[in-house]
Amino acid sequence: MKKLLLAAGVLLLSFNSQAAQDPQAVYARACSACHNGQLPTAPQKGDKAAWQPRLAKGMDALVQSVTNGFNAMPPRGLCMDCTAEDYQAVIQWMAE
Ligand code: HEC
Repeated sequence: MKKLLLAAGVLLLSFNSQAAQDPQAVYARACSACHNGQLPTAPQKGDKAAWQPRLAKGMDALVQSVTNGFNAMPPRGLCMDCTAEDYQAVIQWMAE
């Protein structure tokens, strides 16, 4: 049992080296309110063509956009307890 727990822990850690929150959960709780097709300008999960030009700005710039707000996106993207690492993980997950 101990070994199993350890293995699960290692697996979690390797999936998510820094983010404290599960990207999918953050998306469902906050980002999906707009990034799920409700706002046509908000790039949707898995829409690689929409994400490609955004990713080209660099991950730091995208994390800044979410933190400070960007056009119709409010500051922090409605996730008040997200860290920069959490945003990065969600952005990566959304762009897949
Ligand atoms: C209230 C609606 C709303 C919420 C909530 C929201 N977004 Fe957005 N987001 C937008 C819109 C609209 C855009 C497109 C803005 C534009 O390009 O004009 C956008 C764009 C972005 C971009 C691209 C920024 C850039 O510089 O090109 C990223 C990254 C992003 N959102 C991440 C997130 C993450 C992560 C969350 C959740 C923590 C989130 N958003 C929550 C509306 C939202």
